[in-house]
Amino acid sequence: MKLSQIYPFLNYHFTSESDLVRAIQEVSQNFTQNRQDIKQYLNDPRLSSAYTAFYLTTNIPKLEGVFQWMDESWLQKLKKCILYDVGAGPGTFSFAFRQWLGHPLKIIQIENSPIMRDQAKKIWEGLYPGEFLTQMAQRQENIEEEKLMLFGHSANEMGALQVLKYVEDVRPEHILFIEPGTKDFFSTMLDIREKLLLKGYEILFPCTDSTTCPLANQNQDWCHQFLNVKQDSEVERLSQMAKKDRRLLPLTVFAFSLPTKRMISGARVIRVFSETKFSFEWEVCEKNIIYHFQVMKRGLSKQNLDLFASVKSGDMIQVEVDKTLEKQVRVKIKALNNIPIEP
Ligand SMILES: C[S@@+](CC[C@H](N)C(=O)[O-])C[C@H]1O[C@@H](n2cnc3c(N)ncnc32)[C@H](O)[C@@H]1O
Repeated sequence: MKLSQIYPFLNYHFTSESDLVRAIQEVSQNFTQNRQDIKQYLNDPRLSSAYTAFYLTTNIPKLEGVFQWMDESWLQKLKKCILYDVGAGPGTFSFAFRQWLGHPLKIIQIENSPIMRDQAKKIWEGLYPGEFLTQMAQRQENIEEEKLMLFGHSANEMGALQVLKYVEDVRPEHILFIEPGTKDFFSTMLDIREKLLLKGYEILFPCTDSTTCPLANQNQDWCHQFLNVKQDSEVERLSQMAKKDRRLLPLTVFAFSLPTKRMISGARVIRVFSETKFSFEWEVCEKNIIYHFQVMKRGLSKQNLDLFASVKSGDMIQVEVDKTLEKQVRVKIKALNNIPIEP
């Protein structure tokens, strides 16, 4: 996307290119040197417009670059998702995602700053008139489609607790973090990583498995990536004037998914809750993680209804995960105490 395409929709009109460059430098200094002033750009139309002009354009090739690291099968799933852009700012990554996709999608932006929300709406309506966009400060109920929750340079501002709260509220199937490649943020990210694993998520990127990170509790080193991106010539010129390198970008990327149709070959029942009219409800432990399993009664034979009603603490079950809900995991029983279950 070219800078000139978004200029008409900025909330603040810069008198000249050097006026814009000065504002970009101010925002950038607040991010890197004057961290106490980091929130200034969220309350000031001039600075928020400078942020928009610079980062909206430069984050589009950034997302494309990040997606080149991801598995094609995961990308295919993302193409069918609703996007939750959390800490959306002026909608930087909503635009990047829309551009990558090449056709309309449902987007829900969660953003605290009214100035940023206003800016995001103005550009979105300008560039994609009539396309679905919801803005809010909190979650949306009852969305059936799979959800991708994207944190773009926002998890580092809101912190681990708030990130986990958003994840808990929305329970997205997929989560993507594109955050600064700094040592500071890495320790926050490790905290988020551990908690997401406990919530049943799998790491798709950058880790090669989901055990404890070898860099945890290590002060010297941190895991991050570098991306080479090619910017549009207008943006390139602006980067040079602002003395900001937007060609070699350090970043911290993490991708997670909830496993679908996952087989759990050994879960120990540790507590049997009262059954409901519709379901059996058990607390189980699998690889030292506690889950609340729900087995729906609908469609079960009389024999299996009786069998599941007799399940007690200590039994071992093998299941296929049907759906991961907010609090429970809905499963189908494949074996009980190693005896296969006839459907
Ligand atoms: C650096 S901006 C990133 C904007 C955009 N995602 C991007 O990558 O360009 C961080 C944004 O996170 C928002 N933010 C910070 N804490 C938040 C919270 N708890 N809930 C919603 N948004 C939050 C800020 O208002 C700000 O717009």
